[in-house]
Amino acid sequence: MTYVIAEPCVDVLDKACIEECPVDCIYEGDRMLYIHPDECVDCGACEPVCPVEAIYYEDDVPDQWKDYTKANVDFFNELGSPGGASKVGKVSADPELIKNLPPQGE
Ligand code: F3S
Ligand code: F3S
Repeated sequence: MTYVIAEPCVDVLDKACIEECPVDCIYEGDRMLYIHPDECVDCGACEPVCPVEAIYYEDDVPDQWKDYTKANVDFFNELGSPGGASKVGKVSADPELIKNLPPQGE
């Protein structure tokens, strides 16, 4: 299992979550961040610090954001498992679901 970042992160990218992750498995895309499903150790440390409540345990992702579980997997189709987000840095790409969203926020 893994934690998943969902739609509230899009165009917000607060990044408070990055500071909490003990295994550096939260990667930055163009419009949101993504948790590597194989590198995440399910510690839960990232979930409470997100100011927009974008992070959920895989089983608890709200129905309207279920597609984000797959988006967090698809983001790594080309990246594979780098074993650390800080050395990868920002990746200027997002899965189609996110790329096609209208601008978020007020
Ligand atoms: Fe996004 Fe929340 Fe992290 S807005 S970058 S999931 S702290
Ligand atoms: Fe990292 Fe733990 Fe979240 S491993 S992605 S801080 S659940």
